[in-house]
Amino acid sequence: MKSPTIAVVGSINVDLVARVPRIPAPGETLLGSDLVTTFGGKGANQAVMAARLGAHVHMVGRIGADSFGADVLANFAREGVDTTYAGKADRPTGVALISVAEDTGQNTIVVTPGANAAVTPEVVRAAHAAIEASGAVMCQLEIPTAATLEAFRMARAKGSPAVTIFNPAPAVAFPPELLPLCDVILPNEHEAAQIAGMPPIHSIEEAAVVGKTLQARGVKQVVITLGSRGALLIDESGAASHLPAEPVEAVDTVGAGDAFAGSLAFFMAAGLPLSDSVRRAVAIATLSVLKPGAMASFPFAHEIQHLLANG
Ligand code: ATP
Ligand code: RIB
Repeated sequence: MKSPTIAVVGSINVDLVARVPRIPAPGETLLGSDLVTTFGGKGANQAVMAARLGAHVHMVGRIGADSFGADVLANFAREGVDTTYAGKADRPTGVALISVAEDTGQNTIVVTPGANAAVTPEVVRAAHAAIEASGAVMCQLEIPTAATLEAFRMARAKGSPAVTIFNPAPAVAFPPELLPLCDVILPNEHEAAQIAGMPPIHSIEEAAVVGKTLQARGVKQVVITLGSRGALLIDESGAASHLPAEPVEAVDTVGAGDAFAGSLAFFMAAGLPLSDSVRRAVAIATLSVLKPGAMASFPFAHEIQHLLANG
C-alpha cells in the first residue's frame, strides 16, 4: 500500500487520567487510581494513528511554551509526526481531565483548550504547503471553527488532491458552510443525532436515517461510528452499509474514535475505496479498546500487517 501524506489540523493535549470505580454523580467525590499523564487531543491522536500506520503526517496546531508543550513535541518526534506547523502560542498547552470508570470502561472528559484556542485561520494559512500537498486533510472541533473552515477551503484549492474528512467532535456548533467542503463526515452516533437535530440513535436503521439527513446538507459521504456495533457508511449514491465490529471486552474506549479517524484518513489517502477503508478502520479502532489510554492504545503497523496488505 502506498505511504500517503496527511495533514491534521486540530488539537494537541496532555491527558491527565484517573481510573474511578464508576462515573461520579454530580457533587460526588470518589477516590481514583494514581494519576496517569499521557499524550492526547483529538487532532494529535488522529495524527499519531495515521503515522503508526505509515503515513507522513503534518500536525498543524498550537502548544504552550511550557513543560507539557516540550513533552508533546518530544512525543511527536518519537512517533514520526512532522511538527513544522505545530508552533507555540501564548497560552498553556491544552489539557484534558479524564475519568475512566472501572465498571463499564466508559469515560468523562473535560478539555481546557489553552493553546488550541490560538489555532486561527492565519495559523492554517501558514501551513498551506502541507495542506495543499496532502492526500487527506482531517479536522475535528477542538480548535476554533474558523480555522477548520479555512483548512477545508484550502484543501479544495484548485489542483489539491486532498480528501477532506471532518470528525465533528466534540459536538459544538459549526458553520453550515463546512459541510459541502467535506468528502466524509465522521461523527459518532451521539454527535450525528445532535448535528442532524434528531432524537438519539438506538438502531442501525435509525443511524441510516440520521446519516441521510446529514448527507442532504451537502456532505458527499457519511460514516457514523457505533461503538461496539462498528460503523455505518452512506456512500455517494445514498446506499447505507453496516460494517460490524468484532465482539471484545473493552477495557478503555478513550481515543477509539480517534483510532478510527486516523485509520480512515490513512486508507482513504492511500487510495482505498470508502467501504474497504471503513472495514479496516473498524478493526483497528476495536483493537484500541483492548488497552488503556488514547494514543497509547493504538496498534503499530507491524502488529496489523494483515490489515495493511492490498486486497
Ligand atoms: P471515544 O469518544 O470513546 O473515543 P467515539 O464515541 O468517538 O469514541 P465509538 O463509536 O464509540 O467512537 O467507537 C469508534 C470505533 O471504536 C467503533 O466503530 C469500533 O470500531 C470501536 N469500538 C468502540 N467501542 C467498542 C467496543 N466496546 N467493542 C468493540 N469495538 C469498539
Ligand atoms: O478523543 C479522545 C481525546 O479527547 C483525548 O485524548 C482528550 O485529549 C480529548 O481531546
